[in-house]
Amino acid sequence: MIPEFLSCLPAEIVHLIKGKSNVELFGVVSAAALCSYVVRKVFWTPFRLYFLAQYLPGLDLRKMGRWAVVTGATDGIGKEFARALASRGLDIVLISRSEEKLNTVKQEIIQDFQRTVKIIQADFMDTDIYDKIEKELSGMDIAVLVNNVGMAQTYVHFLETPNLHESNKDILSVNCLSMASMTGVVLPQMLERGRGVVINISSILSYMGSTHSSNYSATKAYNLVLSRNLSRTYKSRGVIIQSLTPGMIRTSLLNALIPSNDSVTKSAGV
Ligand SMILES: NC(=O)c1ccc[n+]([C@@H]2O[C@H](COP(=O)([O-])OP(=O)(O)OC[C@H]3O[C@@H](n4cnc5c(N)ncnc54)[C@H](OP(=O)(O)O)[C@@H]3O)[C@@H](O)[C@H]2O)c1
Repeated sequence: MIPEFLSCLPAEIVHLIKGKSNVELFGVVSAAALCSYVVRKVFWTPFRLYFLAQYLPGLDLRKMGRWAVVTGATDGIGKEFARALASRGLDIVLISRSEEKLNTVKQEIIQDFQRTVKIIQADFMDTDIYDKIEKELSGMDIAVLVNNVGMAQTYVHFLETPNLHESNKDILSVNCLSMASMTGVVLPQMLERGRGVVINISSILSYMGSTHSSNYSATKAYNLVLSRNLSRTYKSRGVIIQSLTPGMIRTSLLNALIPSNDSVTKSAGV
């Protein structure tokens, strides 16, 4: 007996499930759901991300606005984002803590891409910087926000972290509070205009966790979950919110995340 609401299905499918018992129907539906999950996760998503994406026309970011704001923009991944966004025709706001490095990256971007660059010096370990940043960004037509700034603690077990209490405060401020607060500063004006892109940098450790980088991997899980939640909340209002979960990338942060030489002898009990 086919329930009435299934009668809207194509005739071929109705024919397939006609006369089946509830248990058989349950089996057919479960198998179909499992197949569609496997096809999506194992074939379609990697095919779309790693193959199809390079041939599809990318988003025209200039249609999203004039400026891209990048936190932690003077080194590593943040600097590369700033340069890549400048090469796509956006003017850039660099936010980082070293004024000297900010000026160097600013000059490099002006020279290489002929874009306008504004710098904001701020230390994300401080929690009272956001009013100043909000004032500096006020009235700017921001297309893209890259929440990139991040730090890692020494590669040790949680209780062996030097200056544990201070270090906990710092990593939560830099890796988590920065993302929530910067998004709180920029997202309202993106929603008002009905366009914008927010890119949040998480890490592969957000899925795996790590006994030697407990706090770091937990902050990266925060980044991932916050992104997913915000994406679900604001997708329908024209703002794209994505997170990236990179594996190892050769930057200065990586040095804190990889074990030192003596950790090998220590773990061998020598
Ligand atoms: N590298 C990897 O393997 C890897 C893997 C997965 C995810 N990630 C994530 O990618 C992001 C960038 O990492 P990265 O490897 O590119 O790091 P990085 O090379 O160490 O660069 C970090 C940037 O953030 C700035 N910064 C650090 N602490 C700051 C603070 N308290 N206030 C203001 N600016 C600060 C640094 O400026 P200064 O030069 O002045 O310190 C620098 O510009 C992080 O969120 C990280 O968790 C990295």
